[in-house]
Amino acid sequence: MSRLVIVSNRVALPQESRAGGLAVALNAALRESGGLWFGWSGKRVREPSGTLHEVRDGELRFVTMDLSNEDHDAYYSNFANRSLWPMLHFRPDLVDYTRETHAGYQRVNALFAERLAPLLREDDTVWVHDYHLIPLGRYLRERGIGCRMGFFLHVPLPSPDLVSALPGHRDLFGALGAYDLVGFQTRRDVERFRDYVRLFGEGRALDGDWLANVDGRRFRARHFPISIDTAGIAAQSAAGVRRSSVKRLRASLGDRALAISVDRLDYSKGLPDRFRAVSRLLERHPQHRGRLTCLQIAPASRSDVPEYQTLRRELAELTGHINGRHAEPDWTPLRYVNRNFSHDVLTGYYRMARLGLVTPLRDGMNLVAKEFVAAQDPEDPGVLVLSRFAGAANELTEALIVNPYDLDSVADAIDAGLGMPLAERIRRWRTMMDTLERHDITGWRRSFLDALASPDG
Ligand code: F6P
Repeated sequence: MSRLVIVSNRVALPQESRAGGLAVALNAALRESGGLWFGWSGKRVREPSGTLHEVRDGELRFVTMDLSNEDHDAYYSNFANRSLWPMLHFRPDLVDYTRETHAGYQRVNALFAERLAPLLREDDTVWVHDYHLIPLGRYLRERGIGCRMGFFLHVPLPSPDLVSALPGHRDLFGALGAYDLVGFQTRRDVERFRDYVRLFGEGRALDGDWLANVDGRRFRARHFPISIDTAGIAAQSAAGVRRSSVKRLRASLGDRALAISVDRLDYSKGLPDRFRAVSRLLERHPQHRGRLTCLQIAPASRSDVPEYQTLRRELAELTGHINGRHAEPDWTPLRYVNRNFSHDVLTGYYRMARLGLVTPLRDGMNLVAKEFVAAQDPEDPGVLVLSRFAGAANELTEALIVNPYDLDSVADAIDAGLGMPLAERIRRWRTMMDTLERHDITGWRRSFLDALASPDG
């Protein structure tokens, strides 16, 4: 069996106790074939980038690289998160592009390739993750690496016209043709990529999954919707409700229903619109006043990026405004918490919630939606209100699917979810849970790696 090499910006080191579902799945993949995980060390240093660190866990190697402050700023804080991230999430208005930061991103990708190439063997399988590392495969090929290489984009790919507005797009997205397989979250992402290659990439969309790059190199693009450890989350949530922090939240609610949302504090998640929809609910359906508590857990993210600082200020103000307007001495409609919780506490919270409110404006997949479903009590499941612009909406079709820009419809869906009879809740939940049991995180990584291993798709 070929050795697996995973490359991603962040690396989940073995001693890290709070590794998420993806990290656990990739670790399991590494364990099956023996392997190496390569990425950024999480350290910003004064010296030049490139110092490597290695941690071993049995046969597995974790090799990470320090980045200088300057490289980290250009590559991560700026080009990845102020140019690519907004563009990929359909927000050209927020794109901040400079040639310098683009050059920094390319420089860091080239350095990743320079440091990784000597560690690779001829028959390795390399799996590169996400928008931070789009050109890495091409830099590795330039260094003579000929092994099978796959790339998975965890975020959406927008329409070709948007992609083409990014300066240097042809060179950047053309680099995807250096991989053998490019994975996306949804079929629509793949369709948009094929259109991009044809319309702006000077390449060709061929039969089936095949494409030809501008240089004639043939490669494949296919969708592989990422998933969760369904059985693990179900077991964790059943145990989670017995935790003291979960019981404390329950006690604090009295007999009120809980609607829960958990998101990184990011403009793609649509938090201001969601808060306004809660306010709209209380106007359109006043019977929920005093009867519903909405808990938004939103750990701060990318705090050195100005757009995230602006959002944080906006949300603090909006929460105050909405609570000031609707609250009673013994009730506030919105609880807004800027910190992270361990996964077992979160799954316990999901299980005791009557409603999961997942309304991003754009999201590659959204694993909170899937985890909310997996965490429910089969005999008394809560209802998921889900944005049609989350990749998960393609699979979780029995959720109450909403347009997050239409505040009235979100408010009405919350009302419908709160009033939904038990039999309907069970029927909808069972259908979604069947889907998640059939397509879990293990199935996701196996289907990607099997497709990558097979030479003709
Ligand atoms: O959604 C894309 C993604 O890379 C996720 O895989 C990850 O959870 C998140 O963004 C983390 O962002 P950051 O590494 O910038 O904190």
